[in-house]
Amino acid sequence: MTAPKDFNDRMLSLGLARVSEAAAHASARLIGHGDEKAADQAAVNAMRDQLNMLDIKGVVVIGEGERDEAPMLFIGEEVGTGDGPDVDIALDPLEGTTLTAKDMPNALTVIAMAPRGSLLHAPDVYMDKLAIGPGYPVDVVSLDMSPAERVRALARARGVNDSDITVCILERPRHEDMIAEVRSTGAAIRLITDGDVAGVIHTAEAALTGIDMYMGSGGAPEGVLAASALKCMGGQMWGRLLFCNDDERGRARKAGITDLDRIYARDDLVTDDVIFAATGVTDGSIVAGVKREPGHLTTETILMRSKTGSVRRMIYRNPIK
Ligand code: FBP
Repeated sequence: MTAPKDFNDRMLSLGLARVSEAAAHASARLIGHGDEKAADQAAVNAMRDQLNMLDIKGVVVIGEGERDEAPMLFIGEEVGTGDGPDVDIALDPLEGTTLTAKDMPNALTVIAMAPRGSLLHAPDVYMDKLAIGPGYPVDVVSLDMSPAERVRALARARGVNDSDITVCILERPRHEDMIAEVRSTGAAIRLITDGDVAGVIHTAEAALTGIDMYMGSGGAPEGVLAASALKCMGGQMWGRLLFCNDDERGRARKAGITDLDRIYARDDLVTDDVIFAATGVTDGSIVAGVKREPGHLTTETILMRSKTGSVRRMIYRNPIK
C-alpha cells in the first residue's frame, strides 16, 4: 500500500482539477468587464480556499509575488491541511488577466504540483523561452540558435519547407526583430497578445492548434508552469532567465539561483513527477472557456500527469449559487 505521505499523483490530481475549476468559476462573472484586478482577485481567493482543503503540506514556490506585495498565495505561503505529502505548488490563478478583462481567447487558470524541491523557484523576471512539441530529436533547436536557424532546423526535422512552420510569439515591441527574422524564412507567425503558458502548450498539440514552435521572452514563473505542462504532454522546452537590473539579479540569488546565465531544459525547470491542471476562462484552442447558462456554469479542464503522460479533458457543470 502507498504510504500516505507519498506524492500520490493519481489521487491528488482530481483535487488539483477542483482548484483550477474553482478559480475559473470565480472569475467567470468578471469576463469582459474591463477589470483585470478584480478578475485576478476572485481567482486568487477561490484557488486559495480550494487549495487549503487538499491533504497536502504545500508551499507556493511560483505564486502571486513576494509576501510584501501579495497578501495571498505569495511565494513561501504554506497551503493545504498540512496532513499529507510535502509538495511544491506553482500557480497562476488567472493567466491572462487582460484577456479575461477584454474577453479575448486563451485565458486560463493554471496550477502545477510536484514533490518538494522539484520546481524551479523562478523569480518574477523575464525568461527567454523556446518550446516544441513531442516527436523531434533531442535538442533539434536551441536558445543559442538565431530565430531563423530554429525555423530551418525544425523544418528539416519535420521534412517540410520553412514556410510550413508556424511559430507562436507574444506581440511585444521587444520581439520586433525576432518577428521580422522569422518572417524572412517564410514561416508563419501566430501573434498572441498575452498568455504564453497557453502559447507553449499549443506546441504539444500541433495538429490541433497549428503551432509548431513557441519562442520569445515572457514571465519566468509562467515558464515553470509551461514546462510542467510539456513534461506531461511531451515536448521540449528551454528557458534562460533575463535580468534588467541588480535588484532582479539579487532576487534570483535569494531564490537560490547561482548560475544566472544557465539554460534550463524542461527537466531542469521541473525535476520530478508533476501534475498540472488548467481550466479555460475564455475560449481557447486547448480548452473551452466558461459557459454561462441560466442557473449553471460549465467549465473545461485539462488535467495531466507526467508519470503516465495521461491527458484528461473534464467538463464540469455546476449550479450558480
Ligand atoms: P498576466 O496574466 O499576469 O497579465 O500575464 C500575462 C502574460 O502575457 C504572460 O502570459 C506572459 O508570460 C507575460 O504576461 C508577459 O509579460 P509582458 O506583458 O510584460 O510582456
